[in-house]
Amino acid sequence: MTDLYDSRRYLTRFDVQRLPNLFTDVLVIGSGVAGLCAAIEAAKYANVLLVTKGRIEASNTHRAQGGIAAVMTDEDSIDHHVEDTMKVGCGLCDRAAVERVIREGPGRIRELIDYGALFDRREKKLLMGLEAGHSAPRILHALGDETGREVANTLIRVARGTNQLRIFEDCFTIDLIDIEGRCCGATTYHRHFGHQVFWARQTILASGGCGQLYRETTNSETATGDGLAMAYRAGAPLRDMEMMQFHPTTLYIAGASRALISEAVRGEGAWLVDTKGRRFMPEYHPDAELAPRDVVSRAILREMAVQDATCMYLQISHLNLDKFRKRFPMISRMCEEFDINIETQRIPVRPAAHYMIGGLLVDHDTYTPLPGLLACGEVTSSGLHGANRLASNSLLEGLVFGAIAGENAGRAAAANGTPFQPDMVRNEIAPSARTMLDLADVRNSLRSLIWRNVGIQRQGDRLNETLEIVSFWGQYVMDKLFDDQAGWEIQNMLTLARLSALSALTRRESRGVHYRVDYPETDPAMNDRHIVVQRNGQSIIVQAEPRSG
Ligand code: SIN
Repeated sequence: MTDLYDSRRYLTRFDVQRLPNLFTDVLVIGSGVAGLCAAIEAAKYANVLLVTKGRIEASNTHRAQGGIAAVMTDEDSIDHHVEDTMKVGCGLCDRAAVERVIREGPGRIRELIDYGALFDRREKKLLMGLEAGHSAPRILHALGDETGREVANTLIRVARGTNQLRIFEDCFTIDLIDIEGRCCGATTYHRHFGHQVFWARQTILASGGCGQLYRETTNSETATGDGLAMAYRAGAPLRDMEMMQFHPTTLYIAGASRALISEAVRGEGAWLVDTKGRRFMPEYHPDAELAPRDVVSRAILREMAVQDATCMYLQISHLNLDKFRKRFPMISRMCEEFDINIETQRIPVRPAAHYMIGGLLVDHDTYTPLPGLLACGEVTSSGLHGANRLASNSLLEGLVFGAIAGENAGRAAAANGTPFQPDMVRNEIAPSARTMLDLADVRNSLRSLIWRNVGIQRQGDRLNETLEIVSFWGQYVMDKLFDDQAGWEIQNMLTLARLSALSALTRRESRGVHYRVDYPETDPAMNDRHIVVQRNGQSIIVQAEPRSG
């Protein structure tokens, strides 16, 4: 199958001889928990440059509410956390990756505490919350429901104070550069400094996910999947791109952004009720409100359809509300801002895209198949999450695999003492003669299409329709030479929309977060089989592969 999506190796026309060239040992792309940990660790060995497309705080990490899952007490056990993760992952987890993250996680959290992160405690004891799929309370939280902010701010403080580590904000990475099959850095664009080339001995991609593909999402505006798309253009394999996790409860108020209402709220005893106040989750699953996220999301959709309602509700009025306000200060504030009185009223909620489980294939040491390129965090498919991510495992993954990527890249860069010899890379693209575009319209139309057709419930004919529409849009978007971030983001989003729809079409079964109305059962023959998409010259390879390694 050939398409404009596959024939573009680079999004821009460039000639490195005509651009400013900068040099670093390790280039880190992205400033969430994984990128920050990678940069801090790599800087112990080598010079590091961290680039991020917005302000350093604008990551999904910063928005995380619930917390970090980790075994920090003797009452819990590593084996239980491993088994909970494997069970929720529905036959697609890589046990070695799971064991590595869960074993190394507590040490990384102690390091974070040593850096100054303040997790919530009673007296000296860390407080642990409960979320769906966990057999024990093991969710550390900070500032009640602002765990991500505390984790991100702590790491940003450390990064800013680290020698050998420079941070470059508002710098959009357009493409990875590869020479003879080796990643050598990236081309970037900065509002003030324009186009630049960063040459690096080792590059770490930690650019996060692509929740912005969906009209309804908890993700930050920055989550347009640029790293995934640029890795695809560079020929790296992407795995399980059909596996987008939906969060069941985001605040649903027309016009307001879809703010997350943490699963920890249900962990503290909140109920999901319908317009008449009927609690419905016990009819769907023995774990009721703490059933896996895909089950809860589908139940909400079903109730909405049956009752012709635009949302369902979270009821918390039966809880101790003073305790609730202390535990969830941000959510309480947010409800107040929208005039929702939590003592008398219910919180309107519905599901939204939350976390991209699939991503760039990496091994247990965070190496991608492209030499010189490592990756960590949401941009990857590391094997930790399988077909459904256990709540609060993602910050943990970022901490552990971020540090591993940083150490590996830092050591490798330090061991390579040869001076930089930038190759004379150029890329020519004939400018398109076609008309101007309304980029905002394309973006909105795409997000609605993906929400409708590649959302919580998929079916073959809708996925085929999506591919046709995206291919049509691609004919007049992918041929353009843009000179700003908005244009490159649309090209990246379209690329990923196609890869997600294609992967969803290829997986003819339901498993974890991927639900096919036309194939509602899990196919045992697909246990441990992954959908891999890869650009190969001018075309795409799509296959269902058994896990390697
Ligand atoms: C939440 O607070 O519900 C989100 C936690 C997560 O996605 O792991």
